[in-house]
Amino acid sequence: MQTILVTGGCGFIGAHTIVDLIEHGFNVISVDNLSRASDKSLLGIEKITGKKIKNYTIDLTDKVATESIFKENPNITGIIHFAAYKAVGESVEKPLDYYENNLCSLVNLLQMAVKYNAPHFIFSSSCTVYGNPETIPVTEETPLQTATSPYGATKQMGETIIKDTAFTYPLSTILLRYFNPVGAHPSIAIGELPIGRPQNLVPAITQTAIGKLPMMQVHGSDYDTRDGSCIRDYIHVCDIAHAHTLAIQYSIKNNKPKSCEVFNLGTGNGITVLEAIKAFEKVSGVQLNYEIGPRRAGDIVSIYANNDKAVNQLGWKCKYGLEEMMLTAWQWEQSLSK
Ligand code: WQD
Repeated sequence: MQTILVTGGCGFIGAHTIVDLIEHGFNVISVDNLSRASDKSLLGIEKITGKKIKNYTIDLTDKVATESIFKENPNITGIIHFAAYKAVGESVEKPLDYYENNLCSLVNLLQMAVKYNAPHFIFSSSCTVYGNPETIPVTEETPLQTATSPYGATKQMGETIIKDTAFTYPLSTILLRYFNPVGAHPSIAIGELPIGRPQNLVPAITQTAIGKLPMMQVHGSDYDTRDGSCIRDYIHVCDIAHAHTLAIQYSIKNNKPKSCEVFNLGTGNGITVLEAIKAFEKVSGVQLNYEIGPRRAGDIVSIYANNDKAVNQLGWKCKYGLEEMMLTAWQWEQSLSK
């Protein structure tokens, strides 16, 4: 049974990916310093899979602590690296925290991957690397634009660090560019746990619907889109999770040292904010209390994926539609209030 180290394993996408890896026969170890996540996720994973996952609560910017994981687990085949700060607004307020945390942890992990021969390295990247693309849908060849936040810059720099490392060392690396991950595992045993007031659309919707927030704002309805609100590619977190299992299987099967491949993980469907709200109201039966507010600084008008490469090369197929994304997000929010 091959062992995969999942960093950020207690986080939203990390926990869902651990479930999928276990269901596809992998042994999994997690490392998460719980600075942005709760180890309650491990209980949810155990509820779904019956497996107790070991989590190392260490800081990956600490090289000695990071190496201790590899000394204790010499049989790690691959690494799926989620652990990073990811709040766009916070990254503008605290850029050095973001550069130190997101980049030092990555460098430490890559050094261990080389030193301990864990050659398969999957990196959690983001559509944010495309900036405000000239043409949509974006393919993996769409030129990147200058990042519009330190968070986005750490993803672009992370991709460059990995590409350069794979050029020199015998690692087989894959960069997965997520679009907008939403929803929760159908068991409702794991889901998204935003810290503080949610910045992202779907948690803002569900927290408003359940009454945690009195109202939510639609950030602008005067954009040049079919209903004036921004367009994004919302994708179910379980579809994102399964893509990681397929990516690690692809990497192990092809066994291409010194390689770095990029895949877009989006559904290929662009959905407006108002359409997302309508889909939520339909599946939840809740009339959402929202108002149209001013545009949010830094928002791009429209982005969604061309996912042909992941479909054709990884054999990936999105299983969940927008209504299931909204329904599972809603059921998860309701479960938090029990
Ligand atoms: C989506 C749309 C908002 C909240 C960010 C990161 C990206 C990735 C996903 C990590 C926008 C609108 C939102 C609200 C609103 N994260 N909105 N009212 O900005 O596309 O992407 O999260 O990888 O890197 O940049 O996602 O969910 O914040 O916003 O109208 O209360 O919803 O203006 O148009 P975004 P989002």
